[in-house]
Amino acid sequence: MDFGLTEEHLMIRDAARDFARTELLDGVIERDEKQSFPDELVKKMGDLGFMGIMVDPKYGGSGMDAISYVLIMEELSKIDASASVIVSVNNSLVCYGLESYGTEEQKQKYLTKLATGEFVGAFCLSEPEAGSDATSQATTAIDKGDHYVINGTKNWITNGGRSDVYLVIAQTDREKGHRGINAFIVEKGMEGFEIGPKEDKLGIRGSDTHTLQFNDVKVPKENRIGEDGFGFKFAMKTLSGGRIGIAAQALGIASGAYELALKYSKERKAFGTEICNHQAIAFKLADMFVEIEAARHLVMKAAWDKDQGNNYDQSSAMAKLYASKVAMEQSVEAVQIHGGNGFVKEYHVERMMRDAKITQIYEGTSEIQKIVISRSLIKG
Ligand code: CAA
Repeated sequence: MDFGLTEEHLMIRDAARDFARTELLDGVIERDEKQSFPDELVKKMGDLGFMGIMVDPKYGGSGMDAISYVLIMEELSKIDASASVIVSVNNSLVCYGLESYGTEEQKQKYLTKLATGEFVGAFCLSEPEAGSDATSQATTAIDKGDHYVINGTKNWITNGGRSDVYLVIAQTDREKGHRGINAFIVEKGMEGFEIGPKEDKLGIRGSDTHTLQFNDVKVPKENRIGEDGFGFKFAMKTLSGGRIGIAAQALGIASGAYELALKYSKERKAFGTEICNHQAIAFKLADMFVEIEAARHLVMKAAWDKDQGNNYDQSSAMAKLYASKVAMEQSVEAVQIHGGNGFVKEYHVERMMRDAKITQIYEGTSEIQKIVISRSLIKG
C-alpha cells in the first residue's frame, strides 16, 4: 500500500492549483452573479490539457490517469466549482464515453476536438420525468433505416447551451425496456434540435444548464454509440466514472472552504485573540480536516480502482456519497467560522456552500448512490 503521490502527480496538482489561483479566481464572483459561462477559460483549460485529461494522446488527450484527474478536479473546485463541472462532464461523461465505446470514425470526428477543448460536450440522460429513474426514457429515437429520428425533451443539461457535441440517450424500442435504449451523438445545429431556456440556479451558476428540445431530429445511423440496445449500460458505465469526477469536485469545494476558514481563523480576532485559539473554532477545524481527509481517501480509492482496471461502480458511489455530504456540511461550517463575513460574497464561502448542494444531486442523488452501494453489497 502506498499513500504517496508521484513526482508527476505533484507537478500536475501544482499546475492545476496555479491555474485556478491565477486564472479562475479573478472574476469568479462576477461569473456567479451574472451566471456567465467562462468561454475563454475553457479554451485555456483545453490548452493545458484539462479537457481531455485521461484521453489517449493519439486522440489529442493528455494520457493521464484517474488520480491526476481527481487532483486537477480538486484544485479547480477549490476556486470555481462551475468551471470544474464543465471539465468533469467533458472528461468523464463525454470523452470517456466516446473513447471507450465509440467507433474509430466517431473518435476521429468528435473525440479529437473534445479532448483539446476545441469542442465542449454534454451528456443528455435526464428528462422531466426521468431523473433518478433513468430507465423511464420518454425521448424516442425511431429507426428509419440509414438514420434515426429523435423526439423529446432533456432537462438540467450541463454545458447545454455551449456544447458542440451532445450524447443523447433515447428509447428506440419501448417493449424491450432498458435493453431498448440507445445513445446517440447529436451535433449542435442539427435541424430540429433546439436549446431551451437556461436554468436560474442556486449554485454552480457559472456553468450553463439548459432544457433541450428534439423535434424530428435526423441523426445518421453511424452516430449511434455501441451495439443496438447498449444505451442504458453506456449511461451507467459512463456515470460510474463521472461520479469520481463529482466526488473530486465535492472534495475540492470542502477543502477550499476549509482552507479559507483556517486562514480567516488565524487573522480574525475576538475576545483578545485570534479566533483559532478558541476551542469552539479549533475543534471545528479539527472536525473539518478529519472529514475532508476521510473523503479524500474514498475519492482516491475510487480513482485508484479505475486506474487498476478494477470495477469501480461501488467505490465511485461511496466516494460521491461521502464527499458530497462532507462538501455540504463543511462548507456550512466554513461560513459559520467566518461569522457575518461568511454571509458576504467577497469571502467566497457562501458561494461554496451554494455550490456544494448540487454534488448531492447530479450524476445520481445521494439516495441513488445508496441504491448502487447496497445492491452491490447484497449481490456480493
Ligand atoms: N454498469 C453496467 N451495467 C449496469 C450498471 C453499471 N454500472 N448499472 C446497471 N446496469 C445494468 C443492469 O445490469 C441492468 O441490465 P440487465 O437487466 O441486462 O442485467 C440494467 O442496467 C438496468 O439496471 P437496474 O435494473 O439496476 O435499473 P434500475 O431501473 O433499478 O436503475 C439506477 C438503476 C442505478 C437507479 C439507475 O437508474 C441510476 O443510476 N439512476 C440515476 C441516474 C443518474 O445518475 N442521473 C444523472 C444524470 S447525468 C448528470 O447529472 C450529468 C450532468 O450534467 C452533471
